[in-house]
Amino acid sequence: MLGPYIEEGMTVLDVGCGPGFFTVALARMVGPAGRVIAADLQAGMLQKLKHKIQGSELQERITLHQCAKNRLGLSAKVDFILAFYMVHEIPDQEGFFAELRSILKPDGRVFIVEPPLHTSRRAFESSIQKARDAGLVAVERPRRFLDKAVILQSA
Ligand SMILES: C[S@@+](CC[C@H](N)C(=O)[O-])C[C@H]1O[C@@H](n2cnc3c(N)ncnc32)[C@H](O)[C@@H]1O
Repeated sequence: MLGPYIEEGMTVLDVGCGPGFFTVALARMVGPAGRVIAADLQAGMLQKLKHKIQGSELQERITLHQCAKNRLGLSAKVDFILAFYMVHEIPDQEGFFAELRSILKPDGRVFIVEPPLHTSRRAFESSIQKARDAGLVAVERPRRFLDKAVILQSA
């Protein structure tokens, strides 16, 4: 799923990383020269991820970051952002997308995947419109069984 978008040496943000299932995969894909920022609202999720990577070679590639409810609070520029099953949990999506846009490198991409039950087609399209208002346009609609997915780039 992520292979076509990730190259060695990239800086990647896994926003709403949860216990880090994708963080670990991304850290392997970016290699020793790359970096993954794993960001989540819940300290408990970051703690789980911390235990998972402790003592492994991935530890130094992964930076853990706790977000505030309405602010990611990140400034590092990134090549790729994964938001997997988390956008529907964001109350202020306009602010969220504006923040993503501000840290995305000019050729960077944002990959959003939303679950079938929590996110209707209408809610998903509304999120894409809010992203567009923040300067992120849909460039690809990857096909995923049941899930809804989109790739965004800076306008
Ligand atoms: C359903 S889980 C998905 C976890 C992970 N992306 C995965 O697919 O395994 C949603 C995650 O988004 C996080 N989250 C919700 N709102 C957030 C926010 N405003 N900022 C950062 N993370 C948030 C939650 O704490 C939770 O860990």
